[in-house]
Amino acid sequence: MVSATTLLGVVLLARHGDRLEFFQDPLTYNPTQTFLTPLGSVQEQQLGTFLRDTYIDPGSPTAIEGISSDVVNITQLIVRADAGGGGSVILTSVQGLLQGLYPPTTDNNITLANGTTIVAPLGGYQAIPIESVEPNLDISLNSFTSCPNFDNHTAQFYASPGFQAEGEMAKPFLEKLQPYLDNRSIDFTNMFNIFDYVNVQSVHNATFLAELPPTFAAQAYAYANFHENGVFTDTSPAGIGNIAIRTILPSIFTSLTRMANASDSLKLAINEISYKPFISLFNITEATAADPSIAGIVDYASAVALELHAPATPADEPTVSMRFKNGTTDAMFHDLTLFGSPSLPLSTFIARLAPDAINTTSEWCTACNQTTLRGCAQNPSS
Ligand SMILES: *[C@@H]1O[C@H](CO)[C@@H](O)[C@H](O)[C@H]1NC(C)=O
Ligand SMILES: *[C@@H]1O[C@H](CO)[C@@H](O)[C@H](O)[C@H]1NC(C)=O
Ligand SMILES: *[C@@H]1O[C@H](CO)[C@@H](O)[C@H](O)[C@H]1NC(C)=O
Ligand SMILES: *[C@@H]1O[C@H](CO)[C@@H](O)[C@H](O)[C@H]1NC(C)=O
Ligand SMILES: *[C@@H]1O[C@H](CO)[C@@H](O)[C@H](O)[C@H]1NC(C)=O
Ligand SMILES: *[C@@H]1O[C@H](CO)[C@@H](O)[C@H](O)[C@H]1NC(C)=O
Ligand SMILES: *[C@@H]1O[C@H](CO)[C@@H](O)[C@H](O)[C@H]1NC(C)=O
Ligand SMILES: *[C@@H]1O[C@H](CO)[C@@H](O)[C@H](O)[C@H]1NC(C)=O
Ligand SMILES: *[C@@H]1O[C@H](CO)[C@@H](O)[C@H](O)[C@H]1NC(C)=O
Ligand SMILES: *[C@@H]1O[C@H](CO)[C@@H](O)[C@H](O)[C@H]1NC(C)=O
Ligand SMILES: *[C@@H]1O[C@H](CO)[C@@H](O)[C@H](O)[C@H]1NC(C)=O
Repeated sequence: MVSATTLLGVVLLARHGDRLEFFQDPLTYNPTQTFLTPLGSVQEQQLGTFLRDTYIDPGSPTAIEGISSDVVNITQLIVRADAGGGGSVILTSVQGLLQGLYPPTTDNNITLANGTTIVAPLGGYQAIPIESVEPNLDISLNSFTSCPNFDNHTAQFYASPGFQAEGEMAKPFLEKLQPYLDNRSIDFTNMFNIFDYVNVQSVHNATFLAELPPTFAAQAYAYANFHENGVFTDTSPAGIGNIAIRTILPSIFTSLTRMANASDSLKLAINEISYKPFISLFNITEATAADPSIAGIVDYASAVALELHAPATPADEPTVSMRFKNGTTDAMFHDLTLFGSPSLPLSTFIARLAPDAINTTSEWCTACNQTTLRGCAQNPSS
């Protein structure tokens, strides 16, 4: 007898952990290289431990049905990580998450023909395959760079009356902040980089932390939230501003559909990403309409879970619900809404979002008006 709360599987979107400064061109979002810090690895490991306690520990009321608990079964997992966006930060982050999800165990051993039992290295470390999603070979996790129509959207947002008005409001604050910014531009278009500098220095530079007036970091965060929420949303769900999540939707649909299939072993699909797809996801699912406070840059090591629940009766179909944990300081998942509902039948979830999905590189090339880079030169339609 399957209860209404039986979990069949979870698709996770997780943000990387603490890193060094990250500069993104405000017009193209082309990134510079940066590096994960030991704190970032710890944050990811804590997220992994939290996810283990929630979804894998057999004692958890929300454990995924049938998931292997101590020694990982790699047929039950898909792990993908964006290999763009500042180099190795996201790829190295997901390793920390997996260390918490399936920590070393001496149960990870094998007894050989000669009678000797061998435990895997580092006390039974569990090696889990990670797909490095290279932007030039697979657009799905990093679709917002090299996308001329997205750049156009960004430029139009910067030219909009709403952006101009917010920029005017921010100006007196940015002038007060300027002496702390080591000669960085205080043009409001540069607001992400201003926030990032303040945030990174506040975590890593004792002198800076001691000198910065107490409210400045939160003010910079709030203006950066406005800025990024405008760049990574669109008035239409299928608009180019939502490109960051539109290219991830196909893998979400595929994973949830596989989890709904009792003959398929998949139970957990992890996508390690930047903050951008979170913003777009919350916009196209209308989650921000119900919870306006989630619009903006999610904290390091944040996670969204799309949970697939078994149907209440065998005649029904599984349902999807969405939960969000905003970084390490947020102790738990919070329920979000999907198009105003706490959950949706899987087929409805897919039907509502399928029109927004970008399923192939060729479709991405067209949506972006990209004709040369990222595999678009080989695009038969170009
Ligand atoms: C992992 O799960 C698959 C599918 O359920 C099963 O066939 C396989 O034997 C399992 N592997 C291990 C090592 O338990
Ligand atoms: C090997 O793993 C099994 C569980 O699969 C466990 O019972 C046993 O104690 C482990 N052996 C060692 C030497 O850790
Ligand atoms: C059994 O084989 C393993 C792997 O080759 C080796 O490390 C171990 O020393 C051997 N044990 C014995 C008792 O020969
Ligand atoms: C940008 O968008 C505007 C309005 O949709 C359009 O007029 C303009 O041609 C576009 N520019 C480019 C370079 O695509
Ligand atoms: C500050 O930045 C401006 C513009 O990038 C540059 O011309 C100037 O030399 C810089 N000043 C210092 C002190 O680095
Ligand atoms: C630390 O902050 C101080 C004060 O803003 C600044 O002068 C210094 O360059 C910063 N150090 C580093 C390594 O960025
Ligand atoms: C369910 O999964 C099994 C095993 O992977 C596969 O053979 C079958 O085609 C799947 N069913 C559907 C409806 O996709
Ligand atoms: C999505 O974002 C656009 C542009 O920022 C906004 O106009 C729209 O209201 C948002 N949609 C929802 C449902 O919040
Ligand atoms: C996430 O939490 C931080 C505090 O750690 C807060 O400033 C920010 O507004 C929150 N963001 C969202 C999207 O909830
Ligand atoms: C993308 O795939 C979905 C099904 O997953 C489909 O409904 C949608 O029409 C496809 N989009 C395009 C542009 O082909
Ligand atoms: C696509 O970009 C080219 C320049 O590379 C421009 O001439 C053309 O107008 C753009 N098309 C659309 C539909 O925006």
